[in-house]
Amino acid sequence: MNGTFDPLLDATIRHLETLRERGVGHVNVSAETLKALRLPASRVGGNLPPAKPEAAHPRITIRPEREPAPANQTASPTPTAPPARFQAAPAAVEKPANPITDIPDTQPMPSSKAQKTKAAAILALQQKALACTRCAHLAASRTQVVFGVGNPDARLMLVGEAPGADEDEQGEPFVGRAGQLLTKIIQATGLDRGDIYITNILKCRPDTPGQDSGNRKPRPEEMETCLPYLHSQIDIIKPGVLVALGTVAVEGLMGPGDVISNLRGKWLTYRGIPLMPTFHPAYLLRNQSLSIKRAVWEDFLQVMEKLEMPISKRQRQFFLNA
Ligand code: URA
Repeated sequence: MNGTFDPLLDATIRHLETLRERGVGHVNVSAETLKALRLPASRVGGNLPPAKPEAAHPRITIRPEREPAPANQTASPTPTAPPARFQAAPAAVEKPANPITDIPDTQPMPSSKAQKTKAAAILALQQKALACTRCAHLAASRTQVVFGVGNPDARLMLVGEAPGADEDEQGEPFVGRAGQLLTKIIQATGLDRGDIYITNILKCRPDTPGQDSGNRKPRPEEMETCLPYLHSQIDIIKPGVLVALGTVAVEGLMGPGDVISNLRGKWLTYRGIPLMPTFHPAYLLRNQSLSIKRAVWEDFLQVMEKLEMPISKRQRQFFLNA
């Protein structure tokens, strides 16, 4: 291996990885550089390793400079010269493909511009929400607004009821005991909290005068007042699936109806998006029965199927025959 080339190659790969993490879907290189990349290694930088025939970075496309970058598309191959692609980082450090956030090579890549726009729009909305005083009593009692957290480009959005004491203190939804259980459920699907988006119907903790812990149920008029924030979050993120956690979350979205034990496991539609109602993780903490755990897990298996996520045999068996 060439002593100068290896560190340069590593640095380039690291740079491309960083760009990809920031949402960059392609990089432009000059026609000259592209040509050089296709030359036998010995003619570019001396004693280089032979080119790997199928070397391809799965997520960043390298485009010749000045080629217009079509939105939502990878560079199209020219008949004479296929687009140069970069070698992926070593398999050991590469995260396994994640069907929620990773776009397979064969599909059009969302433009990084669209991703940046979503992130910027969410941030702008968050700034508004953080200053909200529409419910004067909640604005007066809250420590902070708990807007939502996660990937603005997520395909899965979880909607809970309202922040509790821990969330009010930390400014992030589902960080208390129920939240820790929810994180475990998310991880059981193969995802992380950062892959999805998590928020609540109500962005402020319902006030509980004279009471340090425990939440009261959000009032219908509070949910009504706060709902436009959730609508904007949904409209910006455009998730492929929504999950409503618990009766109050379903009521906040769909209006009063049946109890969660009758609603769960059956697809509804909200703003044109498939919505899966399931039990709230706090209910799971109170009721440790295997059948309830399995019920929630079956709801998440349906969500995974809807999102065309891979499901292993082991995952299908969770909470069966224990
Ligand atoms: N329960 C909820 O519904 N939301 C939270 O953020 C925390 C607990």
